[in-house]
Amino acid sequence: MESKFSFESICIGKVIKCKAAVAWEANKPLVIEEIEVDVPHANEIRIKIIATGVCHTDLYHLFEGKHKDGFPVVLGHEGAGIVESVGPGVTEFQPGEKVIPLFISQCGECRFCQSPKTNQCVKGWANESPDVMSPKETRFTCKGRKVLQFLGTSTFSQYTVVNQIAVAKIDPSAPLDTVCLLGCGVCTGFGAAVNTAKVEPGSTCAVFGLGAVGLAAVMGCHSAGAKRIIAVDLNPDKFEKAKVFGATDFVNPNDHSEPISQVLSKMTNGGVDFSLECVGNVGVMRNALESCLKGWGVSVLVGWTDLHDVATRPIQLIAGRTWKGSMFGGFKGKDGVPKMVKAYLDKKVKLDEFITHRMPLESVNDAIDLMKHGKW
Ligand SMILES: NC(=O)c1ccc[n+]([C@@H]2O[C@H](COP(=O)([O-])OP(=O)(O)OC[C@H]3O[C@@H](n4cnc5c(N)ncnc54)[C@H](O)[C@@H]3O)[C@@H](O)[C@H]2O)c1
Ligand SMILES: [Zn+2]
Ligand SMILES: [Zn+2]
Repeated sequence: MESKFSFESICIGKVIKCKAAVAWEANKPLVIEEIEVDVPHANEIRIKIIATGVCHTDLYHLFEGKHKDGFPVVLGHEGAGIVESVGPGVTEFQPGEKVIPLFISQCGECRFCQSPKTNQCVKGWANESPDVMSPKETRFTCKGRKVLQFLGTSTFSQYTVVNQIAVAKIDPSAPLDTVCLLGCGVCTGFGAAVNTAKVEPGSTCAVFGLGAVGLAAVMGCHSAGAKRIIAVDLNPDKFEKAKVFGATDFVNPNDHSEPISQVLSKMTNGGVDFSLECVGNVGVMRNALESCLKGWGVSVLVGWTDLHDVATRPIQLIAGRTWKGSMFGGFKGKDGVPKMVKAYLDKKVKLDEFITHRMPLESVNDAIDLMKHGKW
């Protein structure tokens, strides 16, 4: 989604008034409001957002989650923009540089940042206030009220303020209205296949759910050399796109009366080597695990939900399957996102093929409706 406006006065050092889509409460349409965006405080960067995608996690917060204190909020966490100004102590960024805000920070100092095994930095909203899916502090106000910054980013706004540990500097030649997709969905799905599942050449994979995350997972499996990639979705309109990213087989659970794990097991002589759940449904998570081959099958949870427990019989794991989870595809954002931007510029990963609509910020509710109805 492109943000169209002509607000070009010099605002460095001043509060900026700009447009943002405010979610005043759950289950209600977003409202385009004028908000005030504070100056960047120490170690913070104020970013002019040029483009943003919509991710199902925005819809999860608005319609499905139970974060009743997580409002009012400006949603959006898959954006790209230009540094407008920097706060005291910022040396790594200059006004005018192209950046992607990160919903998982990379402070570089905590024990998680220092380990190559994970991207789970301890600094940021996920550690401090997961109950509202936003940091406690915000730089936004509207009509005299504090407005939260979803996942610390808030890209459904013309301007946002983000701590420098949650910003990736990207190639100045990158088209922001395309690489914004690397702020969440595409890195999440691609990385879940490549970094978390560690898909192997010649393997058989299954991807459940073919939104941007699942399609990117298909692309990750393909780029890792998988020989067979089974794309599973209830919406058959998604299969043609999945083919573009490398899917070889297509399964609609509605066409079968038996559990989908049994269908996949029959198709693959016992199960797939790797499966990725990109829906956010605990029943699908179970099916994805049980679609894996015993002995070495690996299943990765990517879909987001925190409403129900996930379950399986212990024998599924005792028999040698591995169940893992992946946030942001396991990428450490400051290191990984610029590399993915470069991979796109070098034509090693596809991005243009993910784009179905380009809309102004004012049409954000239409964009949400399109995703809700699988027309995305
Ligand atoms: N782990 C992370 O870091 C992370 C990051 C981004 C998104 N997510 C999550 O990933 C999931 C996918 O996001 P998206 O933006 O691609 O969503 P999306 O809504 O665009 O796509 C979901 C797809 O799943 C399909 N689906 C629904 N129920 C299904 C079922 N029972 N079996 C098979 N397919 C089914 C839908 O038809 C749709 O095509 C969401 O849960 C989102 O919150 C997780
Ligand atoms: Zn997302
Ligand atoms: Zn850290």
